[in-house]
Amino acid sequence: MSQKNIFLDWKNPGKALITGASAGMGFCFAKQLAQKGFDLILVARRRDRLQEIADKLASDYSIQCEIISADLSDIDEIKKTAACVKQIGNLDVLINNAGFATIGDFADVPIEKTMQMFNLHMASCVLLTHAGLPGMIKRKRGAIINVSSVAAFTLTPGNVMYDATKAFLKTFSENIQLEVRGHGIRIQALCPGFTRTEFHEVGDFKNFDRSAVPDSLWMMPDDVVSLSLKALEENKEVVFIPGWKNRLNKWIILHSSIVRNYLHKKVKERENLSGGNHHD
Ligand SMILES: NC(=O)c1ccc[n+]([C@@H]2O[C@H](COP(=O)([O-])OP(=O)(O)OC[C@H]3O[C@@H](n4cnc5c(N)ncnc54)[C@H](OP(=O)(O)O)[C@@H]3O)[C@@H](O)[C@H]2O)c1
Repeated sequence: MSQKNIFLDWKNPGKALITGASAGMGFCFAKQLAQKGFDLILVARRRDRLQEIADKLASDYSIQCEIISADLSDIDEIKKTAACVKQIGNLDVLINNAGFATIGDFADVPIEKTMQMFNLHMASCVLLTHAGLPGMIKRKRGAIINVSSVAAFTLTPGNVMYDATKAFLKTFSENIQLEVRGHGIRIQALCPGFTRTEFHEVGDFKNFDRSAVPDSLWMMPDDVVSLSLKALEENKEVVFIPGWKNRLNKWIILHSSIVRNYLHKKVKERENLSGGNHHD
């Protein structure tokens, strides 16, 4: 068993609930918080995989580890999960992490899939936060990480809902922090760039060619998560972008005319392809 390290000066870690804990960054959050001594509640759809992870973390780190198998793209299942969150007396950490991506123009992606993303990225975060925050305010301690993305800063045709839902998470987090900062609670909108997880292997991204993105731009999920937790402990900015390359990327997106010109060119190409007549 490894040495437990103290998080945020909390000498008696309570519970941490992590959505999307069956893979990728959610799994890494679970592992690193277990290492810090938190009891865990792991949420995702794949029950067997969650149970396997829960058993291993409980035995490796001598913690309690429960699972909730739930599809958080379904409003009823979100409400049931939120009801469980309300029952937790000592919720210290909430990580709203579960997510997925689609490929295709907004008009072409089936509305059911779009609403699943809407619910998973936004409704689930809103309901779970609303269920968990009052207890944190009462106990005057807590931390919430909402996993957004560098996509929150971009406009990419073909990625409308992803960009929009991730931008929502950023604004939601920044604003909540303003409300709760006097209560000893820390909020973070974690905005990773390309990270080596299952994200680019599932759903619409099943055939994604990872080599299309230069190796140097990818980060490992364990590194993203340890930087995120460190930033939270150091009380860094609410909107946290891990890795200097991702921070540079965000700066370029926001300030460089190259990106604006590229976007303009792409939009023009699409207009020409559709033979449309548009107001400029
Ligand atoms: N990887 C990247 O390059 C990248 C970059 C920026 C931001 N992000 C964000 O990081 C977060 C974590 O993604 P990841 O990269 O770790 O991806 P991942 O390896 O694919 O993990 C996604 C997790 O979300 C869970 N999940 C998906 N749909 C769900 C649903 N309907 N209900 C409940 N759980 C669900 C999955 O579990 P089950 O399948 O078992 O349900 C899995 O545990 C996402 O919000 C993503 O948007 C990722």
